[in-house]
Amino acid sequence: MSTEKLKFGMVGAGRIAQTYAQAFAGTQHAQLVAVADSRKDAAEAMASGMNCRSFERYEEMAAEAALDAVVVCTPPATHAAIGCYFLQRKVNVLCEKPLSIDSTSARLMLSTARENGVILTMASKFRYVDDVVRARSVVASGLIGDVIHFENTFAAHVDMGNRWNANSAISGGGVLIDNGTHSVDIMRYFLGPIAEVYVVDGKRIQGLPVEETVHMVVRTTTGVTGSVDLSWTINKDASYINIYGSRGTISVGWNESKYRESSKTGWVVFGSGYDKLQAFRSQLDNFALAVLGQQQLLITAEDALASVSVIESAYRSLRQNRWMSINRRPDLAIVAGA
Ligand SMILES: NC(=O)c1ccc[n+]([C@@H]2O[C@H](COP(=O)([O-])OP(=O)(O)OC[C@H]3O[C@@H](n4cnc5c(N)ncnc54)[C@H](O)[C@@H]3O)[C@@H](O)[C@H]2O)c1
Repeated sequence: MSTEKLKFGMVGAGRIAQTYAQAFAGTQHAQLVAVADSRKDAAEAMASGMNCRSFERYEEMAAEAALDAVVVCTPPATHAAIGCYFLQRKVNVLCEKPLSIDSTSARLMLSTARENGVILTMASKFRYVDDVVRARSVVASGLIGDVIHFENTFAAHVDMGNRWNANSAISGGGVLIDNGTHSVDIMRYFLGPIAEVYVVDGKRIQGLPVEETVHMVVRTTTGVTGSVDLSWTINKDASYINIYGSRGTISVGWNESKYRESSKTGWVVFGSGYDKLQAFRSQLDNFALAVLGQQQLLITAEDALASVSVIESAYRSLRQNRWMSINRRPDLAIVAGA
């Protein structure tokens, strides 16, 4: 395997970019050579820590740094314009979730990547968490039988009063798009395409103009049901994935992961919990190796578009208070009955 390190740029030097900075330090295939942020001081601070160049404008970074790839770590409403800017210059793009705030702009990103022969993917860290990958192997082995029901929870208190996350013009919505994009991606990873979705808005106490606690129910094309709790207000800190099969149960937790066969007593522990840095490193490595043509992307651009489409349908469900069908062809991303 080649030990060549690809030259990466990063757009956005905010919260999540700090995790990428740490992850770059441990990757074999990617090297951060430049960072751009419209907050000049933020770009400079990160660049000095990473010993790389800083730019105030990403257009200057694209012109001056010879980049193989870029990580887009800016707020969601900027993803399509920034992503397309780099894709048009034949720079491969790893874009933070959500890929974009609507399927029209997400489709434009996919077609721009295709036309320019470069790779586009969405960062969705949970697919890269070791325990999640192991849990998927356990499911695939048939140990818990046919999967009947999937539960996912991303609920932790965070005051969103002064953050862009609660400004739908910037974020695309509230907790449903913010945390729910991860949920949809994980469910698709385990269960395949989602056929329909129903979302109920919860009680609002933070005084935000967007939803802060929601319950989402899905049915997949193979008839598996999924139940998702998302909140910026309540804390539900048990395991974040539970998968119920005809012959057993799997539980993926923040501190431990385990499975239990219905015919046996007791749980079997198979993982030690969530390691954010491990997940970000694996994600960067998978993307870099895909760019080098040495590995398949774990999350394809079509997966990313499918997540955007499901979330878009989920918002229609929230507004119309009814089940929404999701077209199975992500290229079209047409919502039946919308
Ligand atoms: N994978 C995860 O676990 C995870 C966690 C948090 C955030 N995110 C995602 O990461 C992205 C960024 O979130 P964050 O919390 O780091 O936000 P943030 O506000 O902390 O950082 C965003 C940065 O982008 C900069 N910026 C904004 N517009 C810009 C532009 N046009 N050009 C250059 N710089 C620009 C801002 O100045 C800011 O420094 C979002 O898409 C979010 O959904 C992912």
